[in-house]
Amino acid sequence: MKIETRFTKLVDTELPIVGGAMMDISKADFVAAISDAGALGVLASAIYKDYGEFRDDIKAVKDKTDKPFAVNINLFPMMNKLDNNKYLEIMKEEGVNIVEMSGFAPPEELVSKVKSYGMTWIHKCVGVRYARKAEALGADAVTVVGYENGGATGNLNVTTMVLVPSTVHAVSMPVIGGGGIVDGASLLAVLSLGASGAIVGTRLLMSEECPIHRSLKEKLLEATETDTAVIMRSVGFAHRVWLNGPARKVVEIEAQGGDDILPKIYPYVSGESAKKMFDTGDTEAGSISLSQGIGLIREIKPVREILHEMVEQALEIHRALPFG
Ligand SMILES: Cc1cc2nc3c(=O)[nH]c(=O)nc-3n(C[C@H](O)[C@H](O)[C@H](O)COP(=O)(O)O)c2cc1C
Repeated sequence: MKIETRFTKLVDTELPIVGGAMMDISKADFVAAISDAGALGVLASAIYKDYGEFRDDIKAVKDKTDKPFAVNINLFPMMNKLDNNKYLEIMKEEGVNIVEMSGFAPPEELVSKVKSYGMTWIHKCVGVRYARKAEALGADAVTVVGYENGGATGNLNVTTMVLVPSTVHAVSMPVIGGGGIVDGASLLAVLSLGASGAIVGTRLLMSEECPIHRSLKEKLLEATETDTAVIMRSVGFAHRVWLNGPARKVVEIEAQGGDDILPKIYPYVSGESAKKMFDTGDTEAGSISLSQGIGLIREIKPVREILHEMVEQALEIHRALPFG
């Protein structure tokens, strides 16, 4: 199956879909499965505190698939990561030429590195003004995710339905739209809004290959569209997450207000507690990013099946639309 859009032509994928990078999840096997199925898998560099392991996982993706994949460079200062320049240098040495940068505007040094290496730069953000800025800095494409998305929401709170067309009108580069894209109907919707690709996170979180504990996935299957909340806004790190016990605790602490909120919420949102939840399946150990789209997901399936069904269903709905 091959669908041609401005986005697929830019990155040479068969499907107009990006598999959203997920912290502690988007490692080699999962990323390779997404790329091999025809979408753009994205390795999350922030997972790797050791450059050697980062390089090994890039090599592991290349061993598993010869299809294109990208690396996400996280620009959020709170991620406590290593030097982003070094990740870019390793990507260059290993021949990875698609970089997704997410968060704030990248520093000049990173932009000039990306440009001098001849990489394709996709910038991921949550607002039209950031998309415009990225285009002015030389981005080749922009991903915008609406307020319903799993993960960082920013503070503008604009939903996918409005954010995607607003961005399409504001920039001339290809736009990838996301936030709540979980099936063929939502894929078709985002393409109808003018995007030339869709980013899909939460739907792929609920895939066979996603390396989180099976019992966590099964518990998430029970969640509805109202079982998420935006937390960590008080510390400048607003994220939409699953409303489990730890997330409720954070909502409570933030509602109380006051100073020094970060140390109070940290035990509930730390990377370590999330990792414990992912590895052991203890669904109350920490918090996990999650889209409102979770309410539309009914089955855990292999990545290839999820992606191909999405595209087939989009084509089918398109054919059946009563517009001649
Ligand atoms: C569990 C999880 C972890 C995520 N971690 C990251 C991350 O580390 N960096 C990032 O840029 N986006 C991250 N995201 C956001 C996704 O890459 C993607 O933009 C988002 O999931 C799309 O919205 P959707 O969940 O409605 O499909 C994460 C999302 C989820 C569900």
